[in-house]
Amino acid sequence: MDGNGRWAEQKGEHRVVGHANGVRSVREALVAATEIGVRYLTLYAFSTENWKRPRPEVEALMDLLVNTVVGELDELNNNGVRLNAIGDIDSLPKSCRDTLEQAILDTAKNDRITITLALSYSARWEIVEMARTLATKARSEGLDPSTINDAMVAEHLATKGMPDPELLIRTSGEQRISNFLLWQIAYAELWFTPVLWPDFRKEHLFRAILDFQSRQRRFGLIGEQITPA
Ligand code: IPE
Ligand code: MG
Repeated sequence: MDGNGRWAEQKGEHRVVGHANGVRSVREALVAATEIGVRYLTLYAFSTENWKRPRPEVEALMDLLVNTVVGELDELNNNGVRLNAIGDIDSLPKSCRDTLEQAILDTAKNDRITITLALSYSARWEIVEMARTLATKARSEGLDPSTINDAMVAEHLATKGMPDPELLIRTSGEQRISNFLLWQIAYAELWFTPVLWPDFRKEHLFRAILDFQSRQRRFGLIGEQITPA
């Protein structure tokens, strides 16, 4: 979800106004995804690196997170949305953490779609955590390093139990990944749009999915293996 700051600056507003307007886009993306049967929607809301932004902006983002989660809770439950979070959740301010954890519990039984907020998340952080856990298991729990495989790595990432993303959307015209789900996007289709996140609407999500549907995903094989003549 990129481009909140630029959206606000273009209007002569403070960057925080862009973040506040990005909430509507989250709602639209979630409703659109739910309507067409997407089972997992993962939003990169706050990166490990975002902590280094000016403090008022960081605080505003944390407040927005708490207020949005509280404000949307009934809506999530009414629509079968399960809330989930990945990242270094312990590093969030206590009020955010508590609100988030409560909302995760309150929506745990919903099964139409899972919305995962990546908060204080970065893929390198996640990979380092995974390496530490496996190394600890090898040293003290008898894990044989030669048995470590793709599936075991995936089971020790923050996204444990979730399927790999099929489609990754980045807004605001930037064409880079910026430390998001690096392991998991190995075969994801990438979709870039110049639209700034606060302007992102249902139609943009549908356009991205239509484009996705026209692509041939080969996973390293050749075309004929995927669609035999
Ligand atoms: C994305 O918008 C939202 C967060 C990182 C929280 P930005 O804040 O990165 O907006 P730009 O890139 O400065 O326009
Ligand atoms: Mg940005």
